[in-house]
Amino acid sequence: MLKGKHIVLGVTGSIAAYKAATLVRLLVKEGAEVKVMMTEMAKHFITPLTMATLSKNPVLVEFYNPENGDWNSHVSLGIWADLFLIAPASANTLAKMATGVADNLLLTTYLSAKCPVAIAPAMDLDMYAHVATQTNLNTLRERGVAIIEPESGELASGLIGKGRMEEPEGIVRAVKALFAREGAWKGRRVLLTVGPTREEIDPVRYITNHSTGKMGYALAEAFADQGAQVELVSGPVSIKAQSPNITVHNVVSAAQMAEKTLALYETCPDVTVLCAAVADYTPAERQDQKIKREKKGAYALELVPTVDIAAAIGQIKKPNTLTVGFALETNDAVAHAQDKLQRKNLDMIVMNSLEDPGAGFATDTNRVTLISRDGETRTGSLKSKQQVALDIVQRIDELLCCKD
Ligand code: C5P
Repeated sequence: MLKGKHIVLGVTGSIAAYKAATLVRLLVKEGAEVKVMMTEMAKHFITPLTMATLSKNPVLVEFYNPENGDWNSHVSLGIWADLFLIAPASANTLAKMATGVADNLLLTTYLSAKCPVAIAPAMDLDMYAHVATQTNLNTLRERGVAIIEPESGELASGLIGKGRMEEPEGIVRAVKALFAREGAWKGRRVLLTVGPTREEIDPVRYITNHSTGKMGYALAEAFADQGAQVELVSGPVSIKAQSPNITVHNVVSAAQMAEKTLALYETCPDVTVLCAAVADYTPAERQDQKIKREKKGAYALELVPTVDIAAAIGQIKKPNTLTVGFALETNDAVAHAQDKLQRKNLDMIVMNSLEDPGAGFATDTNRVTLISRDGETRTGSLKSKQQVALDIVQRIDELLCCKD
């Protein structure tokens, strides 16, 4: 899959630099042509000789060779590369990338690169968790840099936490996924429902839920970044879509969401993802005037069921299209999710549980289990919603390829 791909591997000053040797070996084994670029500090952790031998190319550190004046052009390296991968990416390097500092060859190459950029951060847990680092990572993510998230585990300092660079095998998997996604989603159409709905009781009050649309919008951006055209049917949220590949259809109630989504489904999307937290019930009658407080006694509100959009699509599902639902559960998560998968005729269900800390509504992170129709179940670790979105897109891509 990496045959003939040109990869510039940037290595920065982190103890994880020793893993870059295995990484080069694996990339070369997969057929990639690798040119290694190191910062001055990285040379203290692993020798250029090791990296040059494994990559079969001279290692680049300086702007020029002081012995013969040969110029290492960051511009032509940026053009040569199909991918600029920085692993490990230290806190210092990613801060400089976020602010546009250009004081070494690696950073000037980053600023010149026309190709996709991926980074695998590596640092101590407190450096990683620091708001400065997280802000820098978000800036880079928003600019389209793929972040290969570090793992939680024992760090070189002896402390335990998040910051340990992803293992070389995991980085190679992420690189392959990046190349695979690049072409595969071009020309595909994705229909996506996101956010909550509002069911009006009277002109002042409504019934809703805690959904913020964060997971759904992260998914929309992930599909769009891979080249898909996304029709986004969005309940009321405060997030704005960024990609020009996303067309937003704003709706408020479950009935509006059902009408819009079913109409768009007729236009043959390849993939439909039902991520919205749609109200299951709506008031039987909307009062035209504000309901006044009763002098005594309880006030009973009659609710009637809404259209189950996922189930409705399940009934009219077209061949060679794929539908994916979400299941947010508070108990017996797997059993409930599997039941929904069958009942709504879905190809896959993304399950998360409110029992999981860091998962669910309003958080920036999520932990999901992907259950496909063939029974395959994959549980991920706690990740940013952007990273979870990439995992979901990748799994859908695999399922689509099986259908072809
Ligand atoms: O049954 P439950 O609401 O938990 O199912 C969740 C899944 O069904 C989600 O994918 C959600 O978007 C979808 N759904 C829907 N229309 C509804 C209710 C849920 O599309 N009225």
